Amino acid sequence: MIVFESVNKTFPDGTTAVASLDLEVGEGEVAVLVGPSGCGKTTTLRMINRMIEPTGGRLTVNGRDVMSVDPPELRRGIGYVIQQIGLFPHRTIAENIATVPALVGWDKRRTRERVDELMTTIGLDAGVADRYPHQLSGGQRQRVGVARALAVDPPIMLMDEPFGAVDPIVRARLQDEFLRLQSEVNKTIAFVTHDIDEAIKMGDRIAIFSQGGHLEQYDTPANILAEPANEFVESFLGGERGLKRLALIPVAEIEADPGPVVAPDDSAEHAARVAAEHGTDWVVVVGPDRRVRGWTFVDGVGDARGTVGDAELRPFALQVAAGDSLRAALNAMMASRTGVAVRVDGDRRYEGILTQELLSRTIR
Ligand SMILES: Nc1ncnc2c1ncn2[C@@H]1O[C@H](COP(=O)(O)OP(=O)(O)O)[C@@H](O)[C@H]1O
Ligand SMILES: [Mg+2]
Repeated sequence: MIVFESVNKTFPDGTTAVASLDLEVGEGEVAVLVGPSGCGKTTTLRMINRMIEPTGGRLTVNGRDVMSVDPPELRRGIGYVIQQIGLFPHRTIAENIATVPALVGWDKRRTRERVDELMTTIGLDAGVADRYPHQLSGGQRQRVGVARALAVDPPIMLMDEPFGAVDPIVRARLQDEFLRLQSEVNKTIAFVTHDIDEAIKMGDRIAIFSQGGHLEQYDTPANILAEPANEFVESFLGGERGLKRLALIPVAEIEADPGPVVAPDDSAEHAARVAAEHGTDWVVVVGPDRRVRGWTFVDGVGDARGTVGDAELRPFALQVAAGDSLRAALNAMMASRTGVAVRVDGDRRYEGILTQELLSRTIR
C-alpha cells in the first residue's frame, strides 16, 4: 500500500532528514515509525501525503507515484492525525469532524449521519457535538482528531505522535481504543512515536530509525525484541527486554505443566507423594468439577489418616488464561508463595501450572 524505494529528503538548507529509505507498509497493517527526536520520522510520514516532497527515490501509495498524483486527490485517501490535533478553535466539534466531507461536497444529511456515527465509534458523547474544542479534555480532543481523520473513510491513516499530549492513563485508554477500532476498520496506518513501549504495543511492524532517517531495523515487535539488529536498536529497546517479550507472548503459546495435583478426598500420604514427585512442598487441590480449590503445604494436611479436603486451603489469588500474556503469568507467580501461576480455561477449569523455568526457557 505504501512503498518507499531509496527515498531521500534533503531540505534546501542541506539537512538530510531521510537517507535512502526502503520501507513497505502492507494493506491493513500498522507500521510504527519510532526513533529519537529529529531522526526523520515526521519527514518520512509527511512525504506519504506529499506535505513534504521527496528529493530522491520513488514513493508509491497504492501503486501510484505520489509525485504524479494531484496533492488534494492524494490526501482525500489519507487521514492525518497530529499531536497538536489542529482542531479549528472557532468551529464546533461536529463541524471539525465534518471538515473533509464539507471539502468534498457531501450534503448536510449524509454529513450529519457520518458525524454521529463517528462520534459513537470513537466513544464521544453526543452532547459534545455542539461544543468548541477548548471545552473538551485533552483526551476528548484527541478522539475528535481521530474522528476527523476517519470522516471520509480513507484507506490510509498517518498518525504523528497522536497520543503524545495526554496523560499516561488517558493515553493507555486511547491506545486500547485505537487497537479495538483498528480491528474493525482495518486501515493501513503509519504511526509515529518516540516511545518504544507505545511502538511495541501498537505496531504490527516497527521501523526503528536513527539520526538522518536511517532505518536500523524493520520487523515485528516480537522479532525485534528477540533479535535486535545492532547495538543502536538494542540500546533503543532499553532494559527489561525479556519482560517486554513476555508481554507479547500469550499463555496459549506454551504448554502448561500438569502440576502437583490432588483431589479433595486424596489422602495426606498420597499428597506427600505427589508433591515429592514434582519437587514441591505443596499441592494444588482440584475438585471433581475441575475447579481449583486452592493449594496447601503437604505437611499442613495433617496425619496420614486425614484427607487433603481436611486441610486449610489457600487461594491462588491470580490465575491466568490462554489469552493472557506470559508477563501476567510472571506477575501471578510473584504473587503466590508457590511461585507458580495457575492456568485455567474460559470456565475457570484447571489446565495446569506455569513455572519460572518454563518462562525462562521460552525467552532463551
Ligand atoms: N523544513 C526543514 N528545513 C530544514 N530542516 C528540517 C526541516 N524540517 C525538519 N528538518 C530537520 O530534519 C530532521 C528530521 O526532522 P523530523 O522529521 O521532524 O524528525 P522527528 O519527527 O523524527 O523528530 C531534523 O534534523 C530537523 O531539524
Ligand atoms: Mg516528529
